[in-house]
Amino acid sequence: EEFFANKTDFSGKKVMITMGPTQEALDPVRYISNHSSGKMGLALANAFLSRGAEVFVISGPISLKVNKHSFNWKDVKSAKEMYESAAEIHSKMDICVFAAAVADYAPAEIAPEKIKKSETSLAIEFVKNVDIAAKLGAQKKQNQVHIGFALETENEAKNALKKLSKKNFDMIVLNSMKEAGAGFQLDTNKVHIFHASGLAIESEILSKNQIANLIVNQIKNIPVWV
Ligand code: CTP
Ligand code: CA
Repeated sequence: EEFFANKTDFSGKKVMITMGPTQEALDPVRYISNHSSGKMGLALANAFLSRGAEVFVISGPISLKVNKHSFNWKDVKSAKEMYESAAEIHSKMDICVFAAAVADYAPAEIAPEKIKKSETSLAIEFVKNVDIAAKLGAQKKQNQVHIGFALETENEAKNALKKLSKKNFDMIVLNSMKEAGAGFQLDTNKVHIFHASGLAIESEILSKNQIANLIVNQIKNIPVWV
């Protein structure tokens, strides 16, 4: 497999990437979130950039060192903000990559003041967040490509394939929690890629930059691309 293709094979293409975690506020000083580092999303953003694309990144809070000026970079916190930023630019994009670890639920209310400690237990009501990939997937045009990610701990392939069709992806990248050398905070990863066409690919354990270029290469196997 040739990981690093020529510098310009995606020139003229507009690519949107959602990445990182989202933060869902509980009160002015607290939030719920997850362990997404944003490393895979950033590796993809860099891969598309180095191959000539114009890259629009919508990122949840991350602590990676990034040269934001190389991108059209938008920082967001909540799933709602991430959705609004994505919806604003979606129709102009050629390729959309949904690499963010979006919180599935957010607190039903954001307390206006810091929540005071009182009872021995505290119950918080959560409401489901907008599914960014599914909602924009329903608006996907003939010539647009959507790529999703899945992280599963059981029935991995089956669950990934369900998400592929439910969210109208052209391709889904499955991260396996069970594989050594794969995971949220690591610099290496191993993935399975499932195409809507039925094509399936399994990678070796590779650096996230190599995985990113492998994913970008796979776009050329998507029927609408040719
Ligand atoms: N996704 C999204 N918006 C959400 C939830 C997920 O855009 N509110 C996207 C992710 O960026 C990823 C894909 O959908 O590309 C699958 O995310 P995942 O969390 O695995 O799927 P869910 O549909 O949330 O299902 P579950 O967490 O219950 O497995
Ligand atoms: Ca989820």
